[in-house]
Amino acid sequence: MCGISAYIGNNNAVDFLIQGLSKLEYRGYDSAGITILNHENQFVTTKKQGKLVNLMEALKESKQVGYMGIGHTRWATHGVPCDENSHPHCNKNNTISLVHNGIIENYSILKEELIKDGYEFLSMTDSEVIVHLLDKYDNGNMLETINHVIPKLEGSYALCIMVASDKDCMYVVKKDSPIVLACDANASYVASDIPAILDYSKNVYFMDDYQIARVEKGKITFYDLEQNIIIKEPTFIAYDNQTAQMDGYESFMLKEIYEQPFALQETLRGRIVENKIFFKELKDLDKKVKEFQRVYIVGCGTAYHAGLSIVDIMEKDLQIPVSCTVASEFRYNDPIINQHTLAIFISQSGETADTLAALKLAKSKGATTLSIVNVLSSSIARTSDYTTYTCANLEIAVASTKAYTTQIATLLLLSKYMYQEKTNQLIDNQLLTELQEIPTILKTVIKDSDIFKNYAKKVIQYHYAFFLGRGLDFPTAMEGALKLKEISYIHASSYIAGELKHGSIALIEKTSPVIALALQPNIIKKTISNIQETIARGGDVILITTKPNKVEGTYATYYLPEVHPSLMPIVAAIPMQFIAYHASKLKGYDVDKPRNLAKSVTVE
Ligand code: G6P
Repeated sequence: MCGISAYIGNNNAVDFLIQGLSKLEYRGYDSAGITILNHENQFVTTKKQGKLVNLMEALKESKQVGYMGIGHTRWATHGVPCDENSHPHCNKNNTISLVHNGIIENYSILKEELIKDGYEFLSMTDSEVIVHLLDKYDNGNMLETINHVIPKLEGSYALCIMVASDKDCMYVVKKDSPIVLACDANASYVASDIPAILDYSKNVYFMDDYQIARVEKGKITFYDLEQNIIIKEPTFIAYDNQTAQMDGYESFMLKEIYEQPFALQETLRGRIVENKIFFKELKDLDKKVKEFQRVYIVGCGTAYHAGLSIVDIMEKDLQIPVSCTVASEFRYNDPIINQHTLAIFISQSGETADTLAALKLAKSKGATTLSIVNVLSSSIARTSDYTTYTCANLEIAVASTKAYTTQIATLLLLSKYMYQEKTNQLIDNQLLTELQEIPTILKTVIKDSDIFKNYAKKVIQYHYAFFLGRGLDFPTAMEGALKLKEISYIHASSYIAGELKHGSIALIEKTSPVIALALQPNIIKKTISNIQETIARGGDVILITTKPNKVEGTYATYYLPEVHPSLMPIVAAIPMQFIAYHASKLKGYDVDKPRNLAKSVTVE
C-alpha cells in the first residue's frame, strides 16, 4: 500500500515526483524512491528508507534531471522497510522500472517459478515479481506484454511502468487500487490521488479495473485488455488543494484537535433550519427511507468507532435492526443484503481498501449505499449511491481527531433526518439546540489541555492502560484506547465496564491507570459501581463524568459540561485525544507520523 506519482513532460520530472510524493505521504512513509530516465537514456533509481525527506536529501546531492520518471512512497506489506525493499523495482538489465500500490497475493508461487527461470530477487517484496514477469514476457511491445502478464497477477495493483526501449511513454494499469491521470500540452501526470495532480491540472481521468493507459507527453490513450482503445472524458475537479500548514502549532494533530469547533460548525452549517434537518445532496433518499428493513454501518479504525456510537440511536429512530461492523470483517461475512438494505460507509480518506471493497460488495448485492466521507471525489465518494461530506477539511495527522467528531455529528444528523422523513415527526428540539451549541462547548473542554497533560503523565509511567465505559461511552473508550496505542505505543484496552468483572478485572493491579467514562445518565449508577469495583482492586481511576457525580477514591475526576447523552461521544472525544497526544509528546514520539501506521490504508 503506497503512493505513486509519475511524470513525462518538458520539465524536470523530479520536481513533480517529489511534490506528488509529499502529498501522498499519508499513504505510507516507510521509504520513498524514484526512477528517472536521464539525458543519456538510462534509468537512474534513488531510494531511501524512512520518510520522504531522506530521499529529498539524497536527491539534493545527486541532482537528477530527466523528462520522465516514476516515484513511490511505501507502507511496507511484504519485506521490512529498507532501501532494497523500496520502490521503484527494476529488472536485471535496468531496462524496466516500476512502482506498485497494492498486494500481489500469489507472489510466492510466481517468485518460485521466476527463480527456476534464473531470475534473481533483490528485495523481499511481492512487487518485484511483476518487473521480472514483464522482463520474462517482453516481446518488444509493452502493451502486449502487460496484457500477457496481468492475468497472472492475483490481488490488487496500481502499476506505473517505464521501459527504456519506449522512452517517449510510460504505462499505467490498475485493479482495485486507485490511480488518477491528467495531461496538458506540456506534460502528463499520474498519481494515486487527486491532490498530487491538482496543482498541475484540474481535469482528471479515473481508470477502471483492467484498463491500461499509455502515457505520453501531453497525451494519454486508454486501452482494454483486448487492446481496444477506450474513449474517456476527464472529470473536472472543482476544488483547489488546501495547503497543509501547521499555523504555529507544534504538530498537525494538535492543530486538528483545536480545529474541531470550527470543523463541527462547518459540518452543521445549513443542516438545521427551524427544527428540521436537511440533506439536499442525498437526493431521493427521503422517499426510500420507509423501504429500508435493516442498516449496516461499516468503517475501519476511528471511522468504525464513530459508527458504533450511532447504532443504538439509529435503531430507535428507524425501528429496524442497525449494526456496525469493521469493513475487513463485513466483506467476508456474507452479510444478508437485499434491496431493502441501507449500507452506510464511513471514511475520512474515502480510499480505505477494506471499506471500498465492502461498499462494492453491498452495492453488488442490491443495497442502497451511502457514504460519509471527508475527502472530496475520493473513491468511496464516487462509488456510493449517495454521498455526504464531513467538513473537517484536510486532516493530516495519522491519528484522526476532527474527522471522528464530525463523523459522529453527521451520523447523528443523518439518523434524525431519516427519522424525520420516515415518521413525519419533528425532532427533539433540545437535541438540535444542543447540537448547534457543541462547537462552543468543545472550546471550553479544549482549554483544559493542561489538565489532560497531567493525566498523560500518570499514564506514561505504565506499559498499559484501561479504558472503561458502558452504553454510548463504550465506543468513546474504544477510541480513547486506539488513540493511545496509535501514537504513544502504550498497550491500551477498552472494556465494557459491566463486563470487567467477568474476567478482565483480574488484570487490575495497585495503581493501574484506568480511564473511566461515566456520561450516560440512564446507566450512570451502574457504571459508578463498576468503577468502584476497580478502585477496590487498587486501580488509579481517572474519572471523566458530569457534575455532580462523585466517586470516592479516584486518582482524578474531570467534569465535562453536561450535554444531551447522544452528544456525549463528541464532547468526550476531546479528553481521549489530549491524553493520547500528551502521552506521545511526553515520550518524545512523532505524534503526526507514528511508527508502522499510515493515514490511509489502501491494501487489505
Ligand atoms: C487508518 C488510520 C486510522 C483510520 C483508518 C480508517 O488505519 O491510521 O486513523 O481511522 O485508517 O481510515 P478512513 O480514511 O477510512 O477513515
